[in-house]
Amino acid sequence: MTGHGDRTGGDRTGGARGWREAARAALYGPGGFYRRPEGPAGHFRTSVHASPLFANAVSRLLCRVDAALDRPSDLTFVDMAAGRGELAARVLAELPPEVALRTRVCAVEVADRPAGLPERIEWLDEPPPGVRGLLFANEWLDNVPVDVAETDEDGVPRRVLVHADGTEVPGEPVDGEDAAWLERWWPLPPEEGLRAEIGLPRDRAWAGAVASLDRGLAVAVDYAHTAGARPPFGTLTGFREGREVPPVPDGCRDLTAHVALDACLLPGGRLLTQREALRALGATGSRPPLALASSDPAGYVRALASAGEAAELTATGGLGDFTWLLQPVGVPDPLAP
Ligand SMILES: C[S@@+](CC[C@H](N)C(=O)[O-])C[C@H]1O[C@@H](n2cnc3c(N)ncnc32)[C@H](O)[C@@H]1O
Repeated sequence: MTGHGDRTGGDRTGGARGWREAARAALYGPGGFYRRPEGPAGHFRTSVHASPLFANAVSRLLCRVDAALDRPSDLTFVDMAAGRGELAARVLAELPPEVALRTRVCAVEVADRPAGLPERIEWLDEPPPGVRGLLFANEWLDNVPVDVAETDEDGVPRRVLVHADGTEVPGEPVDGEDAAWLERWWPLPPEEGLRAEIGLPRDRAWAGAVASLDRGLAVAVDYAHTAGARPPFGTLTGFREGREVPPVPDGCRDLTAHVALDACLLPGGRLLTQREALRALGATGSRPPLALASSDPAGYVRALASAGEAAELTATGGLGDFTWLLQPVGVPDPLAP
């Protein structure tokens, strides 16, 4: 096993469990990481926290979905895996008043409702069923726990088991639907030590979220990989107080793994980079014309700051490399060129 291997015989698995179960307890169980008072923003910055331009772009996307739905009286915005509801609150604030008046805003989260969130934002533990509008899941699927497979010395993929202190031991060979998922989406060559994260629970979680829409658009944004470019040793890691740390299921750190988003796609969906998506929504990192500096100095400074934030959201090697999964339901793709 990577890192802390224990191949010494004896009871090698006593107390160890698969990563999926261990991470579920460590992140979402009583006292789990995502139930802590500081919330995700206490440990890392997502696009939502990086700049208000992100919420502004999402509000514009909601307006496009609204138009595709012929401006319904019950337009709904679902902030799926809402953290502390930051995106929901900002999108609501960015909407044109006429659209805001008609919009039901729902934040879906495992953690409790934070104090101070605008009252009209509903706080739910499941996506509301049968809605028309936009469901937006920023950095959700990477936190849906998955099992890890690692090839043994005979080239057989085995489920990796983990102790509470992060020590890993090999479990049984992967079988059943998990083996079928690996075979289809992330086949492991028979070389010892190669690893894969079994994304089936994410495919199912995503399909469930999409099914909550009657019509509209579902979007998942995450760091992702696709067939042909899977990371040979997987990407499971930890984050704590802004730093990457070893993955240990102790409830004190985030546990995350990049998402095989191509496996989550349903018919009619597509993938694009965050850079492409934000550009299509008008958030570009280009500098304002220099002439503005003399005609409207304050406006120039604002435009410059805004261009800097857009550049961060669209940066190569940074947030711009995130992948957007667009899944239209009963409407044309609102970002189609
Ligand atoms: C990385 S944070 C992202 C928060 C926010 N979307 C953002 O971009 O800043 C992941 C969030 O997903 C939540 N989460 C994970 N699984 C969930 C589920 N099945 N239903 C609702 N929330 C979930 C976690 O509690 C956590 O707040």
